[in-house]
Amino acid sequence: MRQPILDYDPDLYKDHALQAETALPGPDYYTVLAWIHEFLCPATYIEIGVWAGESLRLAQPPTRAVGIDPTPVVKTSFVAETRVFPVSSDEFFQSEAGQSVFDGQGFDLAFVDGSHLFEQVLRDFIHLEPLANPGSVVLLHDCIPLDPLTSERTRSTFFYTGDVWKAVLCLRRNRPDLEMTIVPAAPSGLCLVRGLDPGSRILAERFEGLVGQYINVRHSYYLDHLKEMPSRIPNLREAVRVWCLKTPI
Ligand SMILES: C[S@@+](CC[C@H](N)C(=O)[O-])C[C@H]1O[C@@H](n2cnc3c(N)ncnc32)[C@H](O)[C@@H]1O
Repeated sequence: MRQPILDYDPDLYKDHALQAETALPGPDYYTVLAWIHEFLCPATYIEIGVWAGESLRLAQPPTRAVGIDPTPVVKTSFVAETRVFPVSSDEFFQSEAGQSVFDGQGFDLAFVDGSHLFEQVLRDFIHLEPLANPGSVVLLHDCIPLDPLTSERTRSTFFYTGDVWKAVLCLRRNRPDLEMTIVPAAPSGLCLVRGLDPGSRILAERFEGLVGQYINVRHSYYLDHLKEMPSRIPNLREAVRVWCLKTPI
């Protein structure tokens, strides 16, 4: 269950927010997500991790959107046709609703922003890939960790990325066929993935081994292997437009 915001140290949050602003200046991930919706015009959009609905509401008609979150606290209205399923992503994808999402049409754009534990992010990707269409894009939020504390597996700070970066490194190392890049969007980065292969079993088959391999590595491992992370494109509207509109490799 999510800890109430007031339980976290507010001064520490100010420090983290300032550090993140210095490390990743420029437009935030909401802005970049809105650009991506504009450039891709996805017919279908899946969001894992809805919270108050601030990212889900960026989907625009005629996109049809599905949000998945076991404890959504939606405080906004949606302009696109939107359904929120109040279940975990695992429950959703194993359910009839998950199997027949968008009447079997698959998704064009997905945003993974639910659990911030890397194995769940990897599992979310594994669940999404069979539902991908040619040209589908998956976005992984919080892929640039700020520091050791805010990327621990056990959350103790309001500013928090968890160890999502490990899922990105796993994909990079185990699926060189995927086309990946990182937009250093504030405050903690957005990884863009395409070239999905709905028939691929590689990640599912390697899943247990990957969890064992990465579960105990820490932030220092990230720093030591930074060069293996996907390369970055500038956090600029034009750079994101070019990536979205160029023909996938
Ligand atoms: C960081 S918030 C999402 C923020 C939202 N995407 C935005 O940008 O405004 C993370 C959300 O993920 C949800 N969550 C946690 N574990 C999940 C899971 N296994 N499946 C789906 N959602 C999950 C939490 O309930 C929480 O509301």
